[in-house]
Amino acid sequence: MRTLLFTGKGGVGKTTIAAGTAARAAQDGHKTLVLSTDPAHSLSDALGIPEPAYGQGPIEIAPNLWSLHVDVRDRFTKAWGEIQRYLLDVLDSAGVDPIEAEELTVLPGAEEVLALLEVRDQVRSGSWDVVILDCAPTAETLRLLALPDALRWYMDRIWPTERRVLGVLRPILRRASGVPMPRDQVLDAIERLHEDLSDVRSVLTADDASVRLVTTPEAVVFAEARRTLTSLALYGYRVDGIVVNRVFPLTGADEWRAKWITAQAIQLARIEADCDPVPVVKAAYQPAEPVGPTALADLVTAVYGDEDPIAIHQVPDPLTVTRKGEDFQLGISLPLVVKGDVDVARRGDELMVTVGAHRRMLSLPSALRRCDIRGAHLEPGRLLVDFTPDPAQFPRKVNRD
Ligand SMILES: Nc1ncnc2c1ncn2[C@@H]1O[C@H](COP(=O)(O)OP(=O)(O)OP(=O)(O)O)[C@@H](O)[C@H]1O
Ligand SMILES: [Mg+2]
Repeated sequence: MRTLLFTGKGGVGKTTIAAGTAARAAQDGHKTLVLSTDPAHSLSDALGIPEPAYGQGPIEIAPNLWSLHVDVRDRFTKAWGEIQRYLLDVLDSAGVDPIEAEELTVLPGAEEVLALLEVRDQVRSGSWDVVILDCAPTAETLRLLALPDALRWYMDRIWPTERRVLGVLRPILRRASGVPMPRDQVLDAIERLHEDLSDVRSVLTADDASVRLVTTPEAVVFAEARRTLTSLALYGYRVDGIVVNRVFPLTGADEWRAKWITAQAIQLARIEADCDPVPVVKAAYQPAEPVGPTALADLVTAVYGDEDPIAIHQVPDPLTVTRKGEDFQLGISLPLVVKGDVDVARRGDELMVTVGAHRRMLSLPSALRRCDIRGAHLEPGRLLVDFTPDPAQFPRKVNRD
C-alpha cells in the first residue's frame, strides 16, 4: 500500500501531476485510486471524464485506474451538525440574526477536512495498492492537516476538567451567563471529530505515505514552496519529492523563449540547492493541456524516465530521538529555516515549536518528559533539542561496588 499526496501553490499543476502519477501507476499494474479534496473537481476535467453523480463511488476510467469524487454532504451533517447546532444556539442567545448565524457557523475548510476522512477510509479499505490525493492549494491544506494537533492540545488540556465541571455547573452557568452550555452530545461530537482527524493524520504520516510538492521554476512560486516545505516538515509530513512543472524545453529557442529558459535555469539551480536531499524532478511545458489518462501518464513517464514514479525516497526522518550517554537529543526535520525563525518552548509534556506563523505542539516521548531542556540549536535542515535527565525524576542507578 502506498499513499501519495500532491500539494503546491494554486495553478502550478497539482491535479495534472497527481492524475498523471496515478495513470502511470495504473499502467504499471497497481490498482490505483486518485481522489481530490478540492471542491472544484478539476480532477474529472484533467482525466477527461464527466463529473460523477452525487453519491457515486469510485469509478474505473482505465484498467486499474479509479477516480473518486469525494462528496462530503453526508459526512458533513454527521460530523459537524451537532457542533453547528450548538453554535447556532449560542449565537441565537447572543441576539445574532439567524441567517447571519448560519453563515458564521460554516467553518471555512471544514468540508475539506471531512474529505480527508474519506481518504482515510479508502486507504484502510484494503482495496487499493496506491491511493493518490490531489490536495487543495498549499495554505489551506496545511492548516487543515495541522488541525488534529491543535484540537488534541485543546482537548488534553481543557477537556477533562471542563467536562467534569460542566456536568455540575451547567444549569448555574446557563442562568448566570445566559449562554447555553454545550450538551454532552456536542462534547461527544467534538471528541469524535478529533479522533477521526488524528486517525487521518496517522494515515497521512505513515511510513508508506509521502508528500510531493509541485512548483514551477519561478521565484515567486518557489518562495511559497519553500515555506510549505518547512511547514510540512514541522507538522511531521515526509516530503520525498519536488516536481518542478512547466519547464520550457531547450529546443527551438526564439528570443522570448531564450529569456524564459535562462530565468528558469537560475530558479532550477536554486530549487535543487535548497531542497537537497529531497530529489527534484522536472516536467516539461507541453504544447497542449495534458488531458486524459494516456496524455497524463506520458507526461509523468517523461519526468521519471526509468525510475518508478511512486517509489518512496528515503529522506531524513521527520522526528528522531538519539541517546547521547545519559542525555537525549530530539531531532526535528526543519528544512530552510535559519536561527531567529524558530522558537522552542517547553509546556509541560509538550514541546511548542514555532516557525513564522506555524506552530506545532509536539507531544514529548515518555523518556523525554522526565528530562530538562539543556539547549537547542539548528543544523542545516534540522532542529536539535538537547535533553538531560532531571535527577528528581530519574532515580540514580545504585552503585553496587
Ligand atoms: N506541464 C504542463 N504543460 C502544459 N499544461 C499544463 C502542464 N501542467 C499543467 N498544465 C495545465 O495547466 C492548468 C492548471 O493545471 P492544474 O489544474 O493541474 O493545476 P492545479 O495546481 O491543480 O490548480 P488548482 O490550484 O486550481 O487546483 C491546466 O489547464 C493544465 O492542463
Ligand atoms: Mg487542482
